[in-house]
Amino acid sequence: MGILLAVANRKGGVGKSTVTTMLAHGFAAIGEQRVLVVDLDTQCNSSIILSGGEKWDTARRNRKTIAEYFDQKYDRPKLRPDGFIIEKAGDIEIPVGGLSVLSGSLDLEDVENAFLHNRAKAGQDFETAEQGVISRIHDMLKDFADAFDVVIFDCPPGLSFSTRAALRLAHKVIVPFRPDFVSSYAADRAATVIEDKRRLEDVIAIPKEKRRYITLVNFWRDGTFQRLNYANVAAIHPVMRTTIPQDDGIAEAFEYRGEMLSIEEKYGSGAEVVRALCKEAVDSIIMRYRREAVA
Ligand SMILES: Nc1ncnc2c1ncn2[C@@H]1O[C@H](COP(=O)(O)OP(=O)(O)OP(=O)(O)O)[C@@H](O)[C@H]1O
Ligand SMILES: [Mg+2]
Repeated sequence: MGILLAVANRKGGVGKSTVTTMLAHGFAAIGEQRVLVVDLDTQCNSSIILSGGEKWDTARRNRKTIAEYFDQKYDRPKLRPDGFIIEKAGDIEIPVGGLSVLSGSLDLEDVENAFLHNRAKAGQDFETAEQGVISRIHDMLKDFADAFDVVIFDCPPGLSFSTRAALRLAHKVIVPFRPDFVSSYAADRAATVIEDKRRLEDVIAIPKEKRRYITLVNFWRDGTFQRLNYANVAAIHPVMRTTIPQDDGIAEAFEYRGEMLSIEEKYGSGAEVVRALCKEAVDSIIMRYRREAVA
């Protein structure tokens, strides 16, 4: 069974899609893994970074996105995802591993709402209907682990049903944050949802290495203000060793270029940090959960 990672933060624009695609590129190209990115965001950024606008549009027109997959699988639990997935995604040379993407869709929200309405119409109370939808999506997401070594869920900002299902399912949730004023609070909120605790105190009582999430600093620029906010988060939450700097190479890698590039050509000045981030994630997350699965 593959390792399931979610990249999430309720706050927008902190680098969730950037981190998702960095990890996907690195795991596939350097780590030789078979990687699937599942785009749970209706903005579809990671689908477009990984497959380009044209392939995403073809998937949308052919009804091969996450929205149709959920919609059809809801009534046909044995439906396999294979026909919905774009293989050979990413504009990165991948000699051994593989990179695939299940495209995001603007319709995902409508599909989620339809699931909820069906349950409400059948007479379920709000809480039961909501939990029912999350459990059902959770089970649908689980299937992806069969055919891939690593599955990465790129979550939208906020807490959609799909996001809550992915947070519940993932072996590890990576929470990127900007070292700004709001970040500390955003990390606190993310932590309580992921650990399923009502109070932050209950999360803090769990040893950092046992928590199911780890935060990751993005947009790092060394300065007093940044260091202070970083320290506030690190005092309470586990933080990855790698810090991602604010970097033009990383910003430019957001565009799909369509030709096969090395990590250095794709990320330019950001290539070194992509390698460091993937090495840390493989050593401290992937290998750890693989060892636990074998034990
Ligand atoms: N380290 C970085 N250096 C420079 N630019 C960055 C960096 N990380 C992200 N960006 C840029 O910031 C913008 C937001 O990043 P991204 O879309 O990954 O965030 P997000 O959390 O996925 O946003 P959303 O909440 O909208 O899904 C993008 O234009 C991206 O290229
Ligand atoms: Mg995003």
